[in-house]
Amino acid sequence: MTTLITNIKELLQVRESSISKVSGAEMAVLPTIKNAFLVIENNLIADFGSMDNLPKINADTTIDANGKIVLPTWCDSHTHIVYAGNREQEFVDRINGMTYEEIANRGGGILNSAKKLNETSEEDIYAQSKARLEEIMYLGTGAVEIKSGYGLTVEGELKMLRVIQRLAQNYPITIKATFLGAHAFPLDFKENHKGYIDCIINEMLPQIAQNKLADYIDAFCETGYFTVEETEQIMEAGIRYGLKPKIHVNQFNSIGGIQAGIKYNALSVDHLEIMTKEDIEALKNTETMPVALPSCSYFLSIPYTPAREMMTAGLPLALATDYNPGSTPSGNMNFVVATACIKMKMTPQEAINAATINGAYAMGISETHGSITIGKKANIIITKPIPSYYQLPYAFGSNLIDSVYLEGKILT
Ligand code: NIG
Ligand code: FE
Repeated sequence: MTTLITNIKELLQVRESSISKVSGAEMAVLPTIKNAFLVIENNLIADFGSMDNLPKINADTTIDANGKIVLPTWCDSHTHIVYAGNREQEFVDRINGMTYEEIANRGGGILNSAKKLNETSEEDIYAQSKARLEEIMYLGTGAVEIKSGYGLTVEGELKMLRVIQRLAQNYPITIKATFLGAHAFPLDFKENHKGYIDCIINEMLPQIAQNKLADYIDAFCETGYFTVEETEQIMEAGIRYGLKPKIHVNQFNSIGGIQAGIKYNALSVDHLEIMTKEDIEALKNTETMPVALPSCSYFLSIPYTPAREMMTAGLPLALATDYNPGSTPSGNMNFVVATACIKMKMTPQEAINAATINGAYAMGISETHGSITIGKKANIIITKPIPSYYQLPYAFGSNLIDSVYLEGKILT
């Protein structure tokens, strides 16, 4: 099955396969081809180039993309889209003056979602989660990382990870699963942190590994949640089972989580709303991808990751949604890209790099996703006719997507 797309106004993010991420000043460069063609064979990108050099192709389908822009689908490397119910009441409580922290301290927040998750059947959780997954696919996301972390019991965590596995089996979007048992201390272990960590390490992890239910391990390293020492214990245990760390750090406080992540060679360190000079320094010359979550900053009215400072220091940066019921009930990567431009002063080139190639790196799929490269998955967004790709962040409230192709097939 061969699909040929012709007359593409501009084909974005065309790369050699050797590039797995872009850092510092490289982030400002988004390689493109104007007036381009793209060939898809089965589920892969087979060829692309300028219309001036269009070879003779026997295509089964030809699409005229006149006036339209084509780019790789978004790689959303940080979400919690498997959950039950919602937290609308907490949203209104925050409008009325309570803080995220105060809500968590009264037993709300993550524990509120954990209660709902444990009271909801696996079938119902699957039904609720698949609706969110379908929504983000049509918004142009072609790969997504999904975390557990609302179970906080052996059965609850396994239930979440089984739902993630089932979603991965049933949908063409690429899914990576992350075990986040260390998301919060459940009520039963409020005064017995060691007991819960023992449960994660000795009961949850072996079963998760045995059933191959996770690719990565995560912990919420934050004041009032998991200390640096506890986070290190969790990462060390995960690594023993072959799970690379991707961790939540520096959301509200800088307590050394970044340095711990680097010490354990984390694939990514995520959130980064509060960054010190030492944190930025520590990330230099490492393989760890910093990940910013601007729609979380937007929804909670907390600081945005200092993207410019980090890129000027030569660091790479990825962007993700953090889609979850408490801090970011939105999985719209188009909004994330726009917010990165508007609030973090990233240029459209930098934001698109952060949401595609660097996002792919942050979820360990650079070889197959994140750029228009021969041999990578044919996961593409075709926009509506637009004046230039600047329109994507500029018209921040509009849906400018005409169609999405995952594994070479159009979503209908
Ligand atoms: O990434 N910060 C920790 N975890 C989630 C939010 C969890 C929640 O409020 O349910 C986050 O923002
Ligand atoms: Fe998160």
